[in-house]
Amino acid sequence: MTSAKNILLLPGDGIGPEITAAARKTFAWFNDTKRTNFVFTEDLIGGVSYDTHGTPLTDAALKRAQEADAVLMASVGGPKWETLPFKDRPERGLLAMRKGLGVFANLRPALVFDVLANASPLKPEIVQGLDIMIVRELLGGVYFGEPRGIETLPNGERRGINTQVYTTSEIQRVARVAFELARKRSKKVCSVEKANVMESGVLWREEVTKLHDEYKDVELVHMYADNCAMQLVRYPKQFDVIVSDNLFGDLLSDLASMLPGSLGMLPSASLGARDSSGRQPAFYEPIHGSAPDIAGKGVANPLAMILSYGMMLRYSFDMAANADLLDAAVKNVLRAGIRTPDIAEKGQNPVSTQAMGDAVVKELARLAA
Ligand code: IPM
Ligand code: MG
Repeated sequence: MTSAKNILLLPGDGIGPEITAAARKTFAWFNDTKRTNFVFTEDLIGGVSYDTHGTPLTDAALKRAQEADAVLMASVGGPKWETLPFKDRPERGLLAMRKGLGVFANLRPALVFDVLANASPLKPEIVQGLDIMIVRELLGGVYFGEPRGIETLPNGERRGINTQVYTTSEIQRVARVAFELARKRSKKVCSVEKANVMESGVLWREEVTKLHDEYKDVELVHMYADNCAMQLVRYPKQFDVIVSDNLFGDLLSDLASMLPGSLGMLPSASLGARDSSGRQPAFYEPIHGSAPDIAGKGVANPLAMILSYGMMLRYSFDMAANADLLDAAVKNVLRAGIRTPDIAEKGQNPVSTQAMGDAVVKELARLAA
């Protein structure tokens, strides 16, 4: 067994702590069976960090994250903190974490598990077998662009400003991730912007097209963001890898996340640049939010968190066999009709968050026996 890897866990707010507790059972199984050698530490982010330290992310927590081999977060936010000034909000902690880690490529899969095709709000034949990867740029665009703010004009009217800005290198590094991923999948990239309206979109299209010269084995198409939203509902199976900027990627990944029927099933990975020693900053989190309405009730679905750990095995530690084993266990649990309320169908008795964690562990043990 290679030397221990340090994993920082950030349970965060809302349903975060309970799904983390359920997911930890599966992490423990991998450690106990010597498949992994991970040391887990926990820290605060989001509203709980604000309540404890007066800031949604402390310098100490960010430093721990930077020193960890990978970071796994559950969720942040909730109504309790919505009236705070912008800088103190839980979401700022998440944005500061992304920036501080330098994770510029956000991988958001939308995968339809066969047994859940009926859970989709779309007709099963539209989504059956769907397997899309959205690569969202995570550190640029209007999320971080300057100038920004709200100002008062001489006539007393107020003006809100945000700036959409991208540079050549910012576009190319995320597009490269998309092309590389496509090579391991169905070799198709759809690059999304609004080059019909925005100069930053024109540049985006030009830079992606230039980079494509290095990836001639991958098919490249360009699409306007509004059309892409429409196509994702009309005929989602036309897509393999979609690459887009921060804001369009945010919107399109929420849209795509509903194709499988439940947000509670979808993991994500955010990756930075590999340094000369081979270390790559990596941050994993479920796509869903903190779901304050069901927090503390023991009904939240821990599978997105568990599958985020699976992405960590795959992308940070090159443990494809372990990741495949985990994916298989989750599939079998679903096939056996074990469902949390968000994915339960008629006639299925929903199980609790912790029972779902236990079921995955039991299935892992059965598969490994
Ligand atoms: C996401 C979320 C965040 C984002 C919020 C919570 C800041 O919507 O991860 O998609 O907009 O990036
Ligand atoms: Mg979002």
